[in-house]
Amino acid sequence: MSSSNANPEPGTATVEPLRLRLPSPVEEIHDERLAARDVRLLLKRDDLINPDVPGNKWRKLQHNLSAAQREGHATLLTFGGAYSNHIRATAAAGHHLGLSTIGVVRGEEHTPLNPSLQAAVDYGMRLHYMDRETYRHKHEPEVIDQLRDKFGAFYLVPEGGSNALAVRGCVDIPKEIDEPFDVICCAVGTGGTLAGIAAGLTEGQRALGFAALKGASFLIPDVRRLQEATYGRVVGNWSIDLDHHFGGYAKRRPELDAFIDDFADRHAIWLDWVYVAKMMSGVYDHVEHGSILPGSTVVAVITGEVPPVARTPAVRSLGGV
Ligand SMILES: Cc1ncc(COP(=O)(O)O)c(C=O)c1O
Repeated sequence: MSSSNANPEPGTATVEPLRLRLPSPVEEIHDERLAARDVRLLLKRDDLINPDVPGNKWRKLQHNLSAAQREGHATLLTFGGAYSNHIRATAAAGHHLGLSTIGVVRGEEHTPLNPSLQAAVDYGMRLHYMDRETYRHKHEPEVIDQLRDKFGAFYLVPEGGSNALAVRGCVDIPKEIDEPFDVICCAVGTGGTLAGIAAGLTEGQRALGFAALKGASFLIPDVRRLQEATYGRVVGNWSIDLDHHFGGYAKRRPELDAFIDDFADRHAIWLDWVYVAKMMSGVYDHVEHGSILPGSTVVAVITGEVPPVARTPAVRSLGGV
């Protein structure tokens, strides 16, 4: 394991409270392919909540941040891969709220830092690299104790930010939508977002998650476990589509790129290719094949954003990991 110090020193940056756009906007998409099937599509624009802590990052962090502050913690520690949006968002949230942050990154250090980790460091996060074998055991008490020996007390936010408090934060997503709807769709990475969305549904509504990973049937027990940890039971009518991974996590195929370009041309919205575009292409497939019934109103949750620099086909690969 090795560490590198952030610059500026953690906790010394000026505290600027986060400006949050809540409830996030709901926008209707007009598209003849949907109209032909008599389906209405609403986008829940969580990507617009805050540019530094967008989408489900804010939803999952908000109650964890409150808990950390309530418990008197000065430091947040979290885990992620080298391209983790969650690491960067935790760094930004800590910066805005005056909390020091430590990011435990899977694998070795690579310099120069990629844009994601560089942004985390710019927010004052201290990075700590953990070899892959130890990382696999990161939730075990011995590994956590070693981290506490090294860094002192911290509030632990799990990888991807998904815990019971994160689930409670995502319940607000469907509750903020005033229009009646039948199906709400979201991308699934660890399952925390889907677990919360499903818990916020009313009678007759269902949630449909789209796994961004290949062979991810483990997500079904994972979502159940998250709901049980939060509510003591499995709640809501939800299911996960395992077929729209486009080759696996952070993998892409030409047909996915074509879908993103076409969606941007039609609707002037760039979809993040790691998560959101996979979900959206799944939504269109379900509408086409009738598993989303004609006459339905569908909500697609835009859980993340694509940085402006990456909103062209040529450099799109910079965004959204
Ligand atoms: C943009 C985006 N959408 C969806 C997800 C998946 O969320 P979850 O890990 O809660 O399933 C992530 C990962 O956190 C993400 O970055």
